[in-house]
Amino acid sequence: MISNSDKILVAGATGGVGQLVVAKLLAKDLSIQALTRNRSKAESMFEGRVEIVEGDIRYPNTLLEATNGINYIICCTGTTAFPSLRWDFASLFQPANSPEAVDGEGVKNLLAAAPQDLKRFVFVSSCGVLRKDELPYNILNAFGVLDAKLMGEKAIIASGLPYTIIRPGRLIDGPYTSYDLNTLLRAKTDGKKAVKIKLGDDLNGEASRVDVANVCVESLFYDTTVNKAFSIANEGERPALTNWSQLFTTM
Ligand SMILES: NC(=O)c1ccc[n+]([C@@H]2O[C@H](COP(=O)([O-])OP(=O)(O)OC[C@H]3O[C@@H](n4cnc5c(N)ncnc54)[C@H](OP(=O)(O)O)[C@@H]3O)[C@@H](O)[C@H]2O)c1
Repeated sequence: MISNSDKILVAGATGGVGQLVVAKLLAKDLSIQALTRNRSKAESMFEGRVEIVEGDIRYPNTLLEATNGINYIICCTGTTAFPSLRWDFASLFQPANSPEAVDGEGVKNLLAAAPQDLKRFVFVSSCGVLRKDELPYNILNAFGVLDAKLMGEKAIIASGLPYTIIRPGRLIDGPYTSYDLNTLLRAKTDGKKAVKIKLGDDLNGEASRVDVANVCVESLFYDTTVNKAFSIANEGERPALTNWSQLFTTM
């Protein structure tokens, strides 16, 4: 069971889900190290409340300091599914920050840098990784984002480290950090929709960033989530209290 003496590395801490993961870990008084490519951005975001370490998951030698002495890793890094400025086309000599570079090779690099005694590697993947030939996932995968997420998932499973793989539907709710339609629309659930979790890759629809972050953190407290890959979406009316233990046991 996770305790306050454990240290958790959040990769992608400055992202939409990542910021919410950090907030939730802080609320539970857990010790956090935030991995970022941009220290000053993270410093102004987290106002001295978390340790910050610079690193880029494309470059293995930038990850050694970040993973030193870490007990848990929550990986919510990501780039856009379709070409955008986030793919870093600026330099010919820098590999593009493409899905393959981030969600595939980057995840492999993070795994290689992880301590052998890591207690859990939590990975935010995506719905559709096992349905890449079906609509709408074949469109989403036009530039290989689902291929890359699956590459990351397979590397995690092959690493032998304890893992939890979370496959969200289309993300909804802020922080609005991406370039997708829900971000443009500022789409939100107002926290009114129930959390649905199912083993495998069977769910469709939208998932609240708030609940994806909740699941990343809550899963650390339940052994029933070890070495599991499950999808998450939000639908139906939310009960007064979300029973994580029950959700994780009955998925
Ligand atoms: N959008 C959707 O509908 C959807 C659906 C299913 C799954 N997902 C997945 O859900 C996760 C969270 O999504 P989000 O919208 O919250 O993400 P986001 O806001 O785009 O955040 C991405 C994070 O990854 C970091 N990052 C990108 N490239 C990196 C690199 N090379 N090295 C280190 N860090 C890097 C970014 O840090 P910087 O500050 O350095 O840029 C940022 O913190 C992602 O894995 C995404 O693929 C998204």
